[in-house]
Formats: sequence, structure tokens, C-alpha cells
Amino acid sequence: MINTREEWGTRLGFMLAAAGSAIGLGNIWRFPFVAGEGGGAAFVLIYLGFVLLIGLPLMIGEIAIGRKGRANAMDSYRAIRPEQPWHVTGLLGIVSNFMILCFYSVVAGWTLYYFILAATGRLLTSTKSNYGEAFGSFISHPFAPVIWQSLLMIIVSLIVAKGVKQGIERWNNILMPVLFVLLLVLAVRSLTLSGGGEGLAFFLRPDFSSVTSTVVLAALGQAFFSLSLATGLYVTYGSYCRTNTHIPANAGGIVFLDVLVAVIAGLIIFPAVFHFGIDPGRGPDLVFVTFPAIFSNMPLGGLFAALFFFCVFLAALTSAISLLEVVVAYVHERWALRRVTATWLAGLVVLLVGLPCALSFGPWADATLLDRTVFDWFDFLAASVLLPFAGLLLALFLGWGWKPEQVKAEVEQEGVRFQVFPLWRMLIRYVIPVALVIIFLQSIGLI
Ligand code: PHE
Repeated sequence: MINTREEWGTRLGFMLAAAGSAIGLGNIWRFPFVAGEGGGAAFVLIYLGFVLLIGLPLMIGEIAIGRKGRANAMDSYRAIRPEQPWHVTGLLGIVSNFMILCFYSVVAGWTLYYFILAATGRLLTSTKSNYGEAFGSFISHPFAPVIWQSLLMIIVSLIVAKGVKQGIERWNNILMPVLFVLLLVLAVRSLTLSGGGEGLAFFLRPDFSSVTSTVVLAALGQAFFSLSLATGLYVTYGSYCRTNTHIPANAGGIVFLDVLVAVIAGLIIFPAVFHFGIDPGRGPDLVFVTFPAIFSNMPLGGLFAALFFFCVFLAALTSAISLLEVVVAYVHERWALRRVTATWLAGLVVLLVGLPCALSFGPWADATLLDRTVFDWFDFLAASVLLPFAGLLLALFLGWGWKPEQVKAEVEQEGVRFQVFPLWRMLIRYVIPVALVIIFLQSIGLI
């Protein structure tokens, strides 16, 4: 193994890079439509509960594992408990990460294409007034989605190959502030549309009658996916942290920014959707179909469309960087390959395995198993099965394998205080494992 590990240049650098991972398509593309399908505000409240009671405590623990282990997502567990097989948790994380990147790169490629279309003025003036048809024919094209997916993977690999400080940290330091400013501009634009109040009410006033166990499970999956939890991401990024990094405060900041961007995305999307009388539960094409339609009815719509798709692209890019880094850190250290070699190798394999995902809407649309395409299977297995399961193992490792007192000792260095430790200990040992098991059993219909 290679022992000269890189470190983050600044503490803000770590926070922005981690927030860059968390904030992504999950917030801007996925959150509004699962919230829309789950009944709006009631879903949002349940989601917030999961984020605070399950997400935040697990994130603190995951960062601590990385900083203690000082290795990739799998070997950090080994460094802490070499005699027990807990490193399986890390391995599951790396596998789910890899699988997520396979389909994530497809949608991220779509956002790149839509940004270029909007920026060159071809999105809104397209002769097809039916944006649904335009989107459908793009994603089902025999090879166009693969080209955009490849372009995206090349950009991501170029950044990751540069390393932690010069690549990941540097680019997040530039891209994340740009993203925040653009999102605020868009939110102001959307909130000043007439009739937006109704959209706000849908988003902010809870109606619990639409809450079912499926909605609860969707909220849990959304919390894990959106926070990039239990994927080994925080172990990997945490392993580049110095001992004076205040882990609980950083985790709090990352969660805050992630929720903030999801809420801002909701504030952008719901008022606009209601203003133009569109069904908020309209599903995954909300961003690609509904939005162009909305922009084409708006003064300066072309400009706002370009800004909007640039935002979605930036958010997706910084998350894709983190997804690749988890795999690269593993390949780089385990197989003792140079970072550059490891990056291009991992990028290429992701692209090859991800190819069927890109073709799932066109030539391979009929290749289904139990009604799911290859794309759906990657999404379902990684986000809905592997992540919550790895989350359960993670909680058990922190609470019973590594032991809370040891986590506290790792967190409390150089004068840092872990003030909420008693509460954290109770959540990690009892509440989180029990909650995850109940939701799991319910989802497979056992209780
Ligand atoms: N959290 C990212 C998003 O919301 C996706 C992601 C999942 C990134 C897992 C890294 C690891 O888009």
C-alpha cells in the first residue's frame, strides 16, 4: 500500500468538496419529483427527520472512520478492526458507488447536453414545441446519450486524475460558490412569478393523508442518496482530513447545505410548476421536459434556461467527481497503481459497464427483467438495497464493532469537543439500527 496520503489544503476545502458530493442530481432532479409524488410537505418533513436522526449521526461516524483509518473506504475499516470482517461494509459502499456512477453519468450527460442546447439558444427555439417528444427522442437515440456520457466521464476523470488538492478541492472551491449564487438568482425569479404561492403551499404545508409505507421508504432512500451516505464517500474524503478538523461541525455544515439546496430547488421548481399549471407529481422528466416548457413562456427565458441547466450540470459534476474518487482511492492504494492510471482505468470501466444504462431508454429499452431496465436495476440495487443495508452495517460497526467511546476519542483531538456524544451514542447503538431494520422489513412486506 502507498502511505504518502494527500491532505485537504484547507478545512473549507473539505467541507465544500463533501457538500459538492452531497449536492447533486439528488437535490435538484430527484428531490422535487419524489417529494411531488410523496405528497409535498409531508414527505419533506419525514425526509428532514431521517436526515437529522439517521443521516447526520452516520455521517459523523463515517468521517471518523476515514480519519482514523487513513485509507480508502475498505482498508480504513481493516485498519481499525483487522480481526473482524467489517471491511465488507466499505466494500459494499465502493460497489454501490461504482453502480451509482454507471447510471449517474448517464443523467449527468443529459444535463451537459441540455446546458449546451440552452447556451447555444437551441433549446427553446426548437421547432418541436413538444418538449416531451424532444427529450424522448434524445434519450432514446441509438448513440447520442453515450457520447454525452463519455464526455462527462472525460471531464470527471481529468479532474480526479489531478489529485485531492489540485483536482477535487480546487474545482469544488470554484464550482460550488458559483452554484450557490446561480441557485439564488433562479429562486428569486421563480418566487416572483404570479400564482407561485400555491406551489409554495404544496411544498410547505403538510398533508399527512398521502403518507404510506412506500413514501416513508422513499424518504429514507432519498436521505441516504442525497447525503451520499454509506457509500464510503465520507470515509474516503475523511481520510484526507487533519486531526484538527471538527468532524461534528463539518458534518452539520454539510447536512445544512445539502438540505438548503434541496429546499431552494423546491422553491425554484414548485412555484414555477403551479404558475404554469403542471402536475407536480409528474416524475423524473420534471426537470428536462417541464422546465424548458416553463422557460419558453418566461421573459428572458433563454437566459434562465441556460443558467438553470448550468446549475444542474455543476451539481451533477461535483457529485460524479466524488463517486469516481471513492473507486479511484481504492484502486490506487490496493493495486498500487499511480493515481492517473487508476483514474483512467476506473473511468473506462465505469463507462463500459454504464453503457447499457445509457442505452436503456433507446436500443435496450426492451431488455427488461421484472419490468425494470438495466438503468432501473442499477438505480434500484444501489440506491434502494445496497445503501440502506450498508447504512445498517455502518451503524452496527460504529455502535458495537468499533465502540462509541473510541469514535469519541477520534473526534476529540486538538481541543475539539463532541458535545452531543450521549445523544449520538444512543442513536447509533439503538435507534438507527432498529429503525433501519423496521423500514427494511416493511419494504419487503414482512411487517
Ligand atoms: N448525493 C449525490 C446527489 O444527491 C449522489 C451521490 C450518491 C454522490 C452517493 C456520491 C455518493 O446527487
